[in-house]
Amino acid sequence: MSSESSTNFSSPGGLVESPLRLAAADMLPQSSGPIPSPHFPLPTVMRSETEASFSDEPFSIPVADRVKRLPPYLFGKINKLKHKKRQDGIDVIDLGMGNPTDPPEQFIIDKMIEALSDARNHRYSVSNGVENLRREVAKRYDRKYGVKLNAASEVIACIGSKEGFSHMCLALMGPGDTAIVPAPTFPIHSYSVMLASGNVIALDVRNPNEFLSNISYTCEHLFPKPKLVIVNFPHNPSGTCIEQDFYVDLVALAKKYGFLVISDFALATPGAIDIGVELTTMSKGYSMAGWRIGYCCGNAEMVRALGTIKGYYDYGIFQAIQISAIVAMRHGDESIDRLCEEYQRRRDVLVDGLTRQGWEIEAPKAGMFVWAKVPEPWAEMGSINFALKLLNEAGVAVSPGRGFGEEGEGYLRLAIVENAQRLRQAVREIGRCLKPESAVA
Ligand SMILES: Cc1ncc(COP(=O)(O)O)c(C=O)c1O
Repeated sequence: MSSESSTNFSSPGGLVESPLRLAAADMLPQSSGPIPSPHFPLPTVMRSETEASFSDEPFSIPVADRVKRLPPYLFGKINKLKHKKRQDGIDVIDLGMGNPTDPPEQFIIDKMIEALSDARNHRYSVSNGVENLRREVAKRYDRKYGVKLNAASEVIACIGSKEGFSHMCLALMGPGDTAIVPAPTFPIHSYSVMLASGNVIALDVRNPNEFLSNISYTCEHLFPKPKLVIVNFPHNPSGTCIEQDFYVDLVALAKKYGFLVISDFALATPGAIDIGVELTTMSKGYSMAGWRIGYCCGNAEMVRALGTIKGYYDYGIFQAIQISAIVAMRHGDESIDRLCEEYQRRRDVLVDGLTRQGWEIEAPKAGMFVWAKVPEPWAEMGSINFALKLLNEAGVAVSPGRGFGEEGEGYLRLAIVENAQRLRQAVREIGRCLKPESAVA
């Protein structure tokens, strides 16, 4: 606080008044006579800022119901232990989060350094993303998928796809609205609906055809019908993939039952513009997770609704990042291909290695996560305790399936974000943990 604002003044009554008291007096009608009584009660004895508050009771903060509705954070215990181990100087191989350890390509970093030196980039940007970025996204859709997008109305930049996704839910959902989300569930897919005061119906996604027929069944029997269906393939966390037909069927259902679709892609595929939008992250394909940039494309009305929310909430992504993202998209196709090969190599090291250790795991066809059933001798422990065991005994952090909802129980999610050598080390350490004598009796 400045010295000016903390100055106390004497009032006509001789009491020491705070600037707040003066502000209240300022609101009263001006007259030359004595100050009339205010129309709202003021404390009879004014207190200085250094005095204690009126009650010794701890002050309780009445948080909004939408915060109270959120379930406990199930990764908390693992994260705490991981943090403690690191503080104690213990090396943890972290396969917990889809947070790439690789840096972005050097040409992206060089562009960022150049953009940082331009004074114009340090001002507020625009909340829906600079025009050149939106144009570059449209070009990428055309080049890769043959999808034509209007960069002005059908593309918007996001502070990571998670931000775009959650604000899109806020723009579409409200009390009484229902969204269908895939189960097991990437947490933000249901929490952002809940934060927007909507209801969630979680449908098992691991058999995509059954998922579709359960969407139809829900639409036939629920009133009011679901307003939104959220999909995400390759699915995080289960790794489920689909054929292109899936989208044809989904779009037909959306038109029949009148629901909207948000497709959340960790790696891009085309969207269906009449009924939905698609979110794409630059965190994985370009290893730019900490830069917080992604984009949302598709239905102009939905993009506009997201733009309205963002216009109130943010001033746009740091412009130097947007400029670097343009260059990444323009020149990054080959490096994405190389990265995909690298992830495939890592997947094989992890899956083949663990299979050799006696833990049979299905290799995912795409994506950066391995979804592994807790091996039989330890199945009774549950996924949280088995994940804690791996962290304690093998120094390997993984995500327990329970953190992705009830349908995730009995599984673990392993993110292949560490390099092949580290993954080999993880396989050896986990192998030691899987010796029969370490099973629960
Ligand atoms: C399906 C999905 N959506 C969103 C995200 C987060 O992306 P971003 O870093 O762009 O917010 C992830 C990260 O793992 C993801 O798997």
